[in-house]
Amino acid sequence: MNKQHHSNDLRRATANRLLGLLLLAGLGLGSGAALAAGGSDLLSVDINVKDKAALQRGVRTFNDYCLGCHGADYMRYKRIASDLGYAEDQVETRLLPPGREMADALKSAITPEDAQELFGAVPPNLSLSARSRGADWLYTYMLAFYPDDTTASGWNNLVFPNAAMPHAMWELQGIQEQADAHDSADDGGDHGHADITDSFELVEAGLQSPEEYRQTVKDLVTFMVYLSEPAQLKRAAIGPWAILFLVLFSVLAWVLKKEYWRDVH
Ligand code: HEC
Repeated sequence: MNKQHHSNDLRRATANRLLGLLLLAGLGLGSGAALAAGGSDLLSVDINVKDKAALQRGVRTFNDYCLGCHGADYMRYKRIASDLGYAEDQVETRLLPPGREMADALKSAITPEDAQELFGAVPPNLSLSARSRGADWLYTYMLAFYPDDTTASGWNNLVFPNAAMPHAMWELQGIQEQADAHDSADDGGDHGHADITDSFELVEAGLQSPEEYRQTVKDLVTFMVYLSEPAQLKRAAIGPWAILFLVLFSVLAWVLKKEYWRDVH
């Protein structure tokens, strides 16, 4: 009997250790892309998906700079209007491409075949990117483009090396080059450790200042986080009511219990 227990414990311990290893491996894979990029970490960004103004700025950037190549096929213009607090005619004038309806999904302007031919890769549907890549990854990705004449697009990216995507927002950010990629890794960034963008130097100013561009990217990522799970806005709104219901129901149940047990005692 004891022996049986013992071997069960052993098995459990081994299983736990295996689980731990798997988790570690998962974490390792997740950060591998960033680590491959010169030992730097991803930047971290605080996303507030309830910030309607940020969402509205984000959807405009997404519309102007991403939809040309990417689609967000699970989202419709109509839903954007209601979730982001836009009037429908605002969406129509500001976002809706000619020939599209409010009930249409956010389709990319380019066909997959044309994209394959032009870029050598099909730009993926971005509906779920914030979930598959995470907000920090997206944020850092948009800050990590630099020119590279050895690639087909003329651009490269520290977070996603050799991606087929050109820098879509270079006019806003300007052009940054890698100053000295090798000795910048340990000089400590804003967050007390190496910042992946530390190795960059702006060689051509963009339409926006570096701070403005970071804000543009943050708003864009906020929109993409919403896009990856539109229901989170509603869910957050329902939460307090659900808790209120539970509290009221508990009181009711307690009163009822007292009432029933009065005769028994
Ligand atoms: C000129 C076309 C083009 C534009 C504009 C463009 N992209 Fe891309 N994007 C691509 C291509 C092509 C890929 C595929 C890269 C690869 O797999 O090598 C890609 C890949 C990506 C990926 C990586 C997807 C993944 O998880 O592997 C993300 C995220 C992304 N784009 C976001 C954006 C955002 C956000 C914008 C707007 C600011 C944008 N893209 C604008 C062409 C474009």
